[in-house]
Amino acid sequence: MRVTVFSTRPYDREFLARANAAGRHELVFVDARLDAATAAAAQGSQVVCVFVNDQVDAAVLHALHAIGVRLVALRCAGFNHVDLVAAAALGVAVGRVPEYSPHAVAEHTAALVLTLNRKIHRAHARVREGNFALEGLLGFDLYGRTVGIVGTGRIGACFAQIMAGFGCRVLATAPDVNPECDALGVRYVELPELLRTSDILSLHCPLTPQTRHLIDAGALSQMKPGAMLINTSRGAVVDTRAVIRALKSGQLGSLGLDVYEEEGDLFFRDLSAEVIHDDVFARLLTFPNVVVTGHQAFFTEDAMSAIAECTIANLDTFEAEGCALHVVSVEHLA
Ligand code: NAI
Repeated sequence: MRVTVFSTRPYDREFLARANAAGRHELVFVDARLDAATAAAAQGSQVVCVFVNDQVDAAVLHALHAIGVRLVALRCAGFNHVDLVAAAALGVAVGRVPEYSPHAVAEHTAALVLTLNRKIHRAHARVREGNFALEGLLGFDLYGRTVGIVGTGRIGACFAQIMAGFGCRVLATAPDVNPECDALGVRYVELPELLRTSDILSLHCPLTPQTRHLIDAGALSQMKPGAMLINTSRGAVVDTRAVIRALKSGQLGSLGLDVYEEEGDLFFRDLSAEVIHDDVFARLLTFPNVVVTGHQAFFTEDAMSAIAECTIANLDTFEAEGCALHVVSVEHLA
Protein backbone atom coordinates (compact mmCIF):
# COMPACT_ATOMS: atom_id res chain seq x y z
CA MET A 1 0.00 0.00 0.00
CA ARG A 2 1.12 3.54 -0.59
CA VAL A 3 1.38 5.44 2.68
CA THR A 4 2.16 9.15 3.09
CA VAL A 5 4.05 9.60 6.33
CA PHE A 6 3.69 13.15 7.69
CA SER A 7 5.93 14.97 10.20
CA THR A 8 8.84 12.69 9.46
CA ARG A 9 12.27 13.29 10.93
CA PRO A 10 15.37 11.26 10.07
CA TYR A 11 14.77 8.95 13.04
CA ASP A 12 11.21 8.18 11.88
CA ARG A 13 12.49 7.23 8.42
CA GLU A 14 15.17 5.00 9.93
CA PHE A 15 12.90 3.03 12.25
CA LEU A 16 9.95 2.79 9.84
CA ALA A 17 12.18 1.72 6.94
CA ARG A 18 13.68 -0.99 9.18
CA ALA A 19 10.23 -2.27 10.20
CA ASN A 20 9.15 -2.23 6.54
CA ALA A 21 12.31 -4.04 5.38
CA ALA A 22 10.21 -6.61 3.52
CA GLY A 23 8.95 -3.69 1.39
CA ARG A 24 5.28 -4.56 1.75
CA HIS A 25 4.35 -0.87 1.78
CA GLU A 26 5.52 2.10 -0.23
CA LEU A 27 6.31 4.73 2.39
CA VAL A 28 6.36 8.31 1.11
CA PHE A 29 8.05 10.51 3.70
CA VAL A 30 6.95 14.12 4.06
CA ASP A 31 8.63 16.54 6.50
CA ALA A 32 5.56 18.81 6.80
CA ARG A 33 2.93 18.52 9.47
CA LEU A 34 -0.47 17.34 8.27
CA ASP A 35 -3.00 20.16 8.16
CA ALA A 36 -5.52 21.58 5.69
CA ALA A 37 -2.73 23.12 3.61
CA THR A 38 -0.60 19.97 3.36
CA ALA A 39 -3.28 17.26 3.10
CA ALA A 40 -2.94 17.21 -0.70
CA ALA A 41 0.54 15.70 -0.28
CA ALA A 42 -1.30 12.41 0.41
CA GLN A 43 -2.63 12.30 -3.17
CA GLY A 44 -2.27 8.73 -4.43
CA SER A 45 -2.03 7.17 -0.96
CA GLN A 46 -4.66 5.06 0.72
CA VAL A 47 -3.15 5.73 4.11
CA VAL A 48 -1.67 8.66 6.02
CA CYS A 49 0.66 8.01 8.92
CA VAL A 50 0.77 10.86 11.45
CA PHE A 51 2.23 11.91 14.80
CA VAL A 52 1.13 13.88 17.87
CA ASN A 53 1.07 17.40 16.42
CA ASP A 54 -0.50 16.61 13.06
CA GLN A 55 -3.98 18.06 12.64
CA VAL A 56 -6.60 15.43 11.97
CA ASP A 57 -9.73 17.54 12.37
CA ALA A 58 -12.96 17.30 10.33
CA ALA A 59 -11.73 19.62 7.54
CA VAL A 60 -8.50 17.67 7.08
CA LEU A 61 -10.37 14.34 7.17
CA HIS A 62 -12.75 15.56 4.47
CA ALA A 63 -9.80 16.64 2.32
CA LEU A 64 -8.05 13.29 2.85
CA HIS A 65 -11.20 11.29 2.14
CA ALA A 66 -11.78 13.22 -1.09
CA ILE A 67 -8.37 12.12 -2.42
CA GLY A 68 -8.91 8.48 -1.48
CA VAL A 69 -7.34 8.13 1.97
CA ARG A 70 -9.09 5.39 3.98
CA LEU A 71 -6.82 4.90 7.01
CA VAL A 72 -5.17 7.29 9.44
CA ALA A 73 -2.34 5.36 11.14
CA LEU A 74 -1.22 7.18 14.28
CA ARG A 75 2.40 6.69 15.36
CA CYS A 76 1.35 7.42 18.93
CA ALA A 77 -1.04 6.28 21.65
CA GLY A 78 -2.91 9.58 22.23
CA PHE A 79 -5.73 10.42 19.80
CA ASN A 80 -6.91 13.76 21.22
CA HIS A 81 -5.91 15.44 17.92
CA VAL A 82 -8.19 13.23 15.78
CA ASP A 83 -11.87 13.99 15.14
CA LEU A 84 -13.07 10.41 15.55
CA VAL A 85 -16.71 11.34 14.92
CA ALA A 86 -15.86 12.90 11.55
CA ALA A 87 -13.63 9.92 10.68
CA ALA A 88 -16.45 7.47 11.45
CA ALA A 89 -18.96 9.49 9.41
CA LEU A 90 -16.60 9.43 6.42
CA GLY A 91 -15.69 5.77 6.83
CA VAL A 92 -12.01 6.60 7.39
CA ALA A 93 -10.47 4.03 9.74
CA VAL A 94 -8.11 5.14 12.50
CA GLY A 95 -5.39 2.98 14.01
CA ARG A 96 -2.87 3.74 16.74
CA VAL A 97 0.03 2.34 18.72
CA PRO A 98 -1.68 1.78 22.07
CA GLU A 99 1.46 0.77 23.92
CA TYR A 100 5.08 0.95 22.92
CA SER A 101 7.14 1.55 25.99
CA PRO A 102 5.48 2.93 29.08
CA HIS A 103 8.95 2.57 30.64
CA ALA A 104 10.40 5.15 28.26
CA VAL A 105 7.92 7.82 29.38
CA ALA A 106 7.96 6.84 33.05
CA GLU A 107 11.77 6.86 33.15
CA HIS A 108 11.87 10.30 31.51
CA THR A 109 9.37 11.51 34.10
CA ALA A 110 11.71 10.27 36.84
CA ALA A 111 14.60 12.05 35.08
CA LEU A 112 12.65 15.34 35.28
CA VAL A 113 11.97 14.77 38.99
CA LEU A 114 15.65 14.08 39.73
CA THR A 115 16.87 16.97 37.59
CA LEU A 116 14.58 19.49 39.27
CA ASN A 117 15.14 18.19 42.77
CA ARG A 118 18.95 18.00 42.60
CA LYS A 119 19.23 20.98 40.21
CA ILE A 120 21.27 18.95 37.74
CA HIS A 121 20.53 21.46 34.95
CA ARG A 122 22.03 24.29 37.01
CA ALA A 123 24.90 22.20 38.37
CA HIS A 124 25.90 21.12 34.85
CA ALA A 125 26.03 24.74 33.64
CA ARG A 126 27.96 25.87 36.72
CA VAL A 127 30.60 23.14 36.64
CA ARG A 128 31.30 23.81 32.96
CA GLU A 129 32.12 27.39 33.93
CA GLY A 130 34.38 26.35 36.79
CA ASN A 131 31.81 27.31 39.44
CA PHE A 132 31.74 24.63 42.10
CA ALA A 133 29.68 26.54 44.69
CA LEU A 134 26.73 24.62 46.13
CA GLU A 135 24.51 27.56 47.12
CA GLY A 136 21.14 27.22 45.38
CA LEU A 137 21.59 23.51 44.63
CA LEU A 138 19.98 22.14 47.80
CA GLY A 139 17.60 19.24 47.13
CA PHE A 140 15.59 16.90 49.32
CA ASP A 141 15.59 13.12 49.86
CA LEU A 142 12.95 11.47 47.71
CA TYR A 143 12.80 8.70 50.31
CA GLY A 144 9.68 9.16 52.43
CA ARG A 145 8.19 11.93 50.25
CA THR A 146 4.67 11.74 48.84
CA VAL A 147 4.25 11.35 45.10
CA GLY A 148 0.79 11.94 43.61
CA ILE A 149 -0.08 10.36 40.28
CA VAL A 150 -3.02 11.46 38.13
CA GLY A 151 -3.96 8.49 35.91
CA THR A 152 -2.66 5.00 36.67
CA GLY A 153 -2.75 3.44 33.21
CA ARG A 154 0.35 1.94 31.64
CA ILE A 155 2.68 4.91 32.18
CA GLY A 156 1.29 5.99 35.55
CA ALA A 157 1.71 2.43 36.87
CA CYS A 158 5.35 2.28 35.67
CA PHE A 159 6.07 5.63 37.26
CA ALA A 160 4.44 4.48 40.52
CA GLN A 161 6.77 1.47 40.55
CA ILE A 162 9.85 3.62 39.98
CA MET A 163 8.94 6.10 42.71
CA ALA A 164 8.04 3.29 45.13
CA GLY A 165 11.57 2.05 44.45
CA PHE A 166 12.92 5.34 45.81
CA GLY A 167 10.96 4.73 49.01
CA CYS A 168 8.28 7.31 48.24
CA ARG A 169 4.73 7.09 49.50
CA VAL A 170 2.66 6.84 46.32
CA LEU A 171 -0.90 8.16 46.08
CA ALA A 172 -3.05 8.27 42.97
CA THR A 173 -6.29 9.49 41.55
CA ALA A 174 -7.92 7.66 38.64
CA PRO A 175 -11.35 6.48 37.53
CA ASP A 176 -10.31 2.83 38.05
CA VAL A 177 -7.96 1.06 40.43
CA ASN A 178 -5.05 -0.52 38.55
CA PRO A 179 -4.36 -3.92 40.21
CA GLU A 180 -0.60 -3.48 39.62
CA CYS A 181 -0.68 -0.24 41.60
CA ASP A 182 -2.90 -1.79 44.23
CA ALA A 183 -0.38 -4.61 44.70
CA LEU A 184 2.38 -2.01 45.03
CA GLY A 185 0.54 -0.35 47.92
CA VAL A 186 -0.53 2.76 46.01
CA ARG A 187 -3.38 4.47 47.86
CA TYR A 188 -6.20 5.88 45.72
CA VAL A 189 -7.61 9.23 46.87
CA GLU A 190 -9.75 12.01 45.37
CA LEU A 191 -7.99 14.78 43.48
CA PRO A 192 -8.29 17.42 46.27
CA GLU A 193 -6.47 15.14 48.73
CA LEU A 194 -3.85 14.31 46.11
CA LEU A 195 -3.23 18.02 45.50
CA ARG A 196 -3.08 18.81 49.22
CA THR A 197 -0.66 16.05 50.19
CA SER A 198 1.72 15.52 47.27
CA ASP A 199 5.30 16.79 47.35
CA ILE A 200 5.53 15.77 43.70
CA LEU A 201 2.48 15.67 41.42
CA SER A 202 2.83 13.85 38.10
CA LEU A 203 0.22 13.80 35.32
CA HIS A 204 -0.38 10.60 33.33
CA CYS A 205 -3.98 10.93 32.15
CA PRO A 206 -5.03 11.45 28.53
CA LEU A 207 -6.19 14.84 27.28
CA THR A 208 -10.00 14.77 27.16
CA PRO A 209 -12.66 17.46 27.62
CA GLN A 210 -12.68 16.40 31.32
CA THR A 211 -8.91 16.71 31.80
CA ARG A 212 -8.33 19.93 29.81
CA HIS A 213 -6.84 22.43 32.29
CA LEU A 214 -7.32 19.92 35.12
CA ILE A 215 -4.42 21.73 36.75
CA ASP A 216 -5.71 25.30 36.71
CA ALA A 217 -5.43 28.20 39.17
CA GLY A 218 -7.87 26.52 41.58
CA ALA A 219 -5.98 23.23 41.59
CA LEU A 220 -2.62 24.97 41.94
CA SER A 221 -3.86 26.91 44.96
CA GLN A 222 -4.82 23.61 46.64
CA MET A 223 -1.36 22.12 46.14
CA LYS A 224 1.16 21.88 48.95
CA PRO A 225 3.14 25.15 48.85
CA GLY A 226 6.48 24.59 47.11
CA ALA A 227 5.47 21.25 45.55
CA MET A 228 6.83 20.00 42.24
CA LEU A 229 4.56 19.53 39.20
CA ILE A 230 5.52 17.24 36.31
CA ASN A 231 3.59 16.92 33.07
CA THR A 232 4.58 14.32 30.51
CA SER A 233 0.98 13.64 29.37
CA ARG A 234 -0.44 16.35 27.10
CA GLY A 235 0.21 20.09 27.39
CA ALA A 236 -3.38 21.23 27.75
CA VAL A 237 -3.94 19.17 30.90
CA VAL A 238 -2.20 22.13 32.53
CA ASP A 239 -3.23 25.80 32.29
CA THR A 240 0.20 27.23 31.48
CA ARG A 241 -0.64 30.86 32.36
CA ALA A 242 -1.93 29.78 35.79
CA VAL A 243 1.24 27.74 36.29
CA ILE A 244 3.40 30.77 35.52
CA ARG A 245 1.49 32.80 38.13
CA ALA A 246 1.96 30.00 40.68
CA LEU A 247 5.70 29.86 39.94
CA LYS A 248 6.00 33.64 40.33
CA SER A 249 4.22 33.60 43.70
CA GLY A 250 6.28 30.63 44.91
CA GLN A 251 3.14 28.51 45.44
CA LEU A 252 4.59 26.07 42.89
CA GLY A 253 8.13 25.07 43.84
CA SER A 254 9.26 23.63 40.51
CA LEU A 255 7.93 22.49 37.18
CA GLY A 256 9.00 19.79 34.73
CA LEU A 257 7.32 19.69 31.34
CA ASP A 258 7.77 17.41 28.36
CA VAL A 259 4.61 18.71 26.71
CA TYR A 260 3.19 22.18 26.20
CA GLU A 261 -0.28 23.41 25.20
CA GLU A 262 0.95 25.18 22.07
CA GLU A 263 3.83 22.85 21.26
CA GLY A 264 2.63 22.25 17.69
CA ASP A 265 4.44 25.35 16.44
CA LEU A 266 7.62 24.66 18.40
CA PHE A 267 8.56 21.09 19.09
CA PHE A 268 10.39 18.55 16.91
CA ARG A 269 12.26 21.31 15.05
CA ASP A 270 15.54 23.19 15.44
CA LEU A 271 14.48 26.78 16.09
CA SER A 272 17.76 27.79 17.75
CA ALA A 273 18.45 30.51 15.17
CA GLU A 274 14.93 31.90 15.26
CA VAL A 275 12.97 34.26 17.48
CA ILE A 276 10.39 32.47 19.62
CA HIS A 277 7.10 34.33 19.24
CA ASP A 278 5.25 32.48 21.97
CA ASP A 279 5.72 34.78 24.99
CA VAL A 280 4.11 32.34 27.41
CA PHE A 281 6.57 29.62 26.45
CA ALA A 282 9.48 32.08 26.46
CA ARG A 283 8.53 33.15 30.02
CA LEU A 284 8.57 29.52 31.15
CA LEU A 285 12.16 29.17 29.97
CA THR A 286 13.32 32.04 32.21
CA PHE A 287 12.62 30.27 35.52
CA PRO A 288 15.57 28.55 37.22
CA ASN A 289 13.17 25.99 38.71
CA VAL A 290 11.60 24.93 35.39
CA VAL A 291 12.91 22.21 33.11
CA VAL A 292 11.31 21.74 29.70
CA THR A 293 12.04 18.96 27.25
CA GLY A 294 10.54 18.97 23.77
CA HIS A 295 8.17 15.98 23.88
CA GLN A 296 11.00 13.47 24.03
CA ALA A 297 9.77 11.22 26.83
CA PHE A 298 8.88 8.47 24.32
CA PHE A 299 12.20 8.79 22.50
CA THR A 300 14.15 5.60 23.21
CA GLU A 301 15.40 2.99 20.74
CA ASP A 302 13.05 0.45 22.27
CA ALA A 303 10.00 2.70 21.95
CA MET A 304 10.88 3.81 18.41
CA SER A 305 11.27 0.18 17.26
CA ALA A 306 7.98 -0.78 18.90
CA ILE A 307 6.15 2.22 17.35
CA ALA A 308 7.48 1.38 13.88
CA GLU A 309 6.68 -2.33 14.16
CA CYS A 310 3.16 -1.69 15.47
CA THR A 311 2.55 0.89 12.73
CA ILE A 312 3.56 -1.59 10.03
CA ALA A 313 1.33 -4.23 11.70
CA ASN A 314 -1.58 -1.75 11.55
CA LEU A 315 -0.91 -1.26 7.82
CA ASP A 316 -0.63 -5.02 7.17
CA THR A 317 -3.93 -5.71 8.93
CA PHE A 318 -5.68 -2.85 7.17
CA GLU A 319 -4.49 -4.15 3.81
CA ALA A 320 -5.65 -7.69 4.60
CA GLU A 321 -8.83 -7.03 6.57
CA GLY A 322 -9.87 -3.41 5.97
CA CYS A 323 -9.28 -2.25 9.54
CA ALA A 324 -6.19 -1.50 11.62
CA LEU A 325 -4.86 -4.03 14.12
CA HIS A 326 -5.30 -1.46 16.91
CA VAL A 327 -8.44 0.43 16.00
CA VAL A 328 -9.43 3.74 17.58
CA SER A 329 -13.12 4.47 17.27
CA VAL A 330 -15.78 6.73 18.72
CA GLU A 331 -16.21 4.16 21.49
CA HIS A 332 -12.87 5.36 22.89
CA LEU A 333 -14.51 8.72 23.56
CA ALA A 334 -16.89 7.23 26.14
P1 NAI B 1 -3.46 4.70 29.48
O1 NAI B 1 -4.68 4.81 28.66
O2 NAI B 1 -2.85 3.37 29.72
O3 NAI B 1 -3.70 5.39 30.91
C1 NAI B 1 -4.35 6.61 31.11
C2 NAI B 1 -5.08 6.52 32.43
O4 NAI B 1 -5.63 7.80 32.76
C3 NAI B 1 -6.26 5.52 32.39
O5 NAI B 1 -6.07 4.57 33.39
C4 NAI B 1 -7.48 6.39 32.66
O6 NAI B 1 -8.42 5.72 33.45
C5 NAI B 1 -6.86 7.56 33.41
N1 NAI B 1 -7.69 8.76 33.39
C6 NAI B 1 -8.57 9.16 32.45
N2 NAI B 1 -9.19 10.29 32.84
C7 NAI B 1 -8.68 10.61 34.06
C8 NAI B 1 -8.92 11.66 34.99
N3 NAI B 1 -9.82 12.62 34.74
N4 NAI B 1 -8.22 11.67 36.15
C9 NAI B 1 -7.33 10.70 36.41
N5 NAI B 1 -7.06 9.67 35.56
C10 NAI B 1 -7.72 9.64 34.41
O7 NAI B 1 -2.40 5.68 28.79
P2 NAI B 1 -0.82 5.69 28.98
O8 NAI B 1 -0.20 4.83 27.95
O9 NAI B 1 -0.47 5.49 30.40
O10 NAI B 1 -0.50 7.21 28.57
C11 NAI B 1 -0.96 8.30 29.35
C12 NAI B 1 -0.80 9.57 28.55
O11 NAI B 1 0.58 9.87 28.38
C13 NAI B 1 -1.34 9.46 27.10
O12 NAI B 1 -2.70 9.75 27.03
C14 NAI B 1 -0.54 10.52 26.39
O13 NAI B 1 -1.25 11.73 26.43
C15 NAI B 1 0.75 10.65 27.23
N6 NAI B 1 1.94 10.19 26.52
C16 NAI B 1 3.01 11.04 26.45
C17 NAI B 1 4.16 10.66 25.80
C18 NAI B 1 5.36 11.56 25.74
O14 NAI B 1 6.29 11.29 24.98
N7 NAI B 1 5.42 12.62 26.52
C19 NAI B 1 4.25 9.36 25.13
C20 NAI B 1 3.10 8.50 25.31
C21 NAI B 1 1.98 8.93 25.97
